[in-house]
Amino acid sequence: MTIAEQTVCVSLGPRTYEILIGPELLPRTGELIFRWYVQHAGKPPQKPRGLVVTDSNVGPIHGETVRRSLEAAGWSMDLIALPAGEASKSLDVVTQVYDRLIDQQADRQTTIFAVGGGVVGDAAGFIASTYTRGVPFIQIPTTLLADVDSSVGGKVGVNHPRAKNMIGAFYQPFGVLIDTSALATLPDREYRSGLAEVVKYGVILDAEFFTELEAHADALNVRDPEFLAKVIARSCRLKADIVEKDEYERTGLRAMLNYGHTFAHAFEALCGYGELLHGEAVSIGMVCASRLAERRGLIDASVTQRQVDLLTKLQLPITLPAPIGFTAADAIGRMRLDKKAVAGQLRFVLPTRMGYVETIANVPEADVATVLAEINVR
Ligand code: NAD
Ligand code: GLY
Repeated sequence: MTIAEQTVCVSLGPRTYEILIGPELLPRTGELIFRWYVQHAGKPPQKPRGLVVTDSNVGPIHGETVRRSLEAAGWSMDLIALPAGEASKSLDVVTQVYDRLIDQQADRQTTIFAVGGGVVGDAAGFIASTYTRGVPFIQIPTTLLADVDSSVGGKVGVNHPRAKNMIGAFYQPFGVLIDTSALATLPDREYRSGLAEVVKYGVILDAEFFTELEAHADALNVRDPEFLAKVIARSCRLKADIVEKDEYERTGLRAMLNYGHTFAHAFEALCGYGELLHGEAVSIGMVCASRLAERRGLIDASVTQRQVDLLTKLQLPITLPAPIGFTAADAIGRMRLDKKAVAGQLRFVLPTRMGYVETIANVPEADVATVLAEINVR
């Protein structure tokens, strides 16, 4: 069976770009990105030079494939593999990449290729947005989470030691190349973490998509390539629709993508980053947010139950792993630091029916505490 390539366009005026989705694309990188380069730079690359930014896991398997393809297409390439893991999203690690670029006398035409998950995409994008005030940037995601979320929409950045994603920019890539075959090497837990973000799109934006995911959970569990390609394209389209309307997160629309994340960010921070994968925290966070919506009288219990059933079928957690080393007061304290909070008042993205969410202000902390108690956080 041949799986057709699909294209999703992110329409942002002069920053408009394509997301190309299909199998076995990485060995064709040189050929495929040529058009994007011309579209954005206004002319074909002259003596093209580039740096593949990847990580220690992805570099040997996929980073090298991208490097070889570009070299075969006439590019002069270098590759740097960051240590795998969230700790690489730091100014220290980014500075090492600046050092390398300066050593190589990289200039404004030097293109950065991010080959990896969200960590690599966010860090490499930040480097691209800042080195000489901006160089060409191509996203080549290799995790499901990066395919459906972090590679799309231009949020790039690194962590501050005291705050995640605190230093960054909005910087759109020239294009996003999603090779669905790259998912074959992704560990199971990482794959499932990405599925949580896919489920999120159904709950916040597309009830029909949610129903389709329910009907085909088995296909997702076995990574059916054809269904997965469809799911990735639909997720990218849903995210692109939001980004097109609120690129710089000014109107509140883009904040909808944060469904489940107010709880999730608190859980990730309090469990220790890395204990709970981001998508796992989002899975638990969505269930908490949905229960909160029930308490506020916004939905009936069936909307939550459908999420619990689907997430469980996809082998995602809906409750925190024991032992829980923090209290409800700790979690609520963290939530007050959420970017949506205003003057210390908690605000949450909550479902009002399947496929719709709203940002709800002035949520009583007692309701949040009740919801936390349901997952044994007291
Ligand atoms: P990750 O980048 O750490 O990748 C997860 C693990 O999988 C790593 O160990 C990596 O080496 C490995 N890996 C990646 N692709 C592989 C492959 N094909 N085969 C084998 N191993 C592979 O994590 P992630 O979940 O992709 O991204 C999480 C990051 O994304 C967080 O820092 C988060 O803040 C960020 N994020 C950003 C946005 C955004 O809009 N910019 C959105 C969501 C998340
Ligand atoms: N991942 C949230 C956003 O891109 O806005």
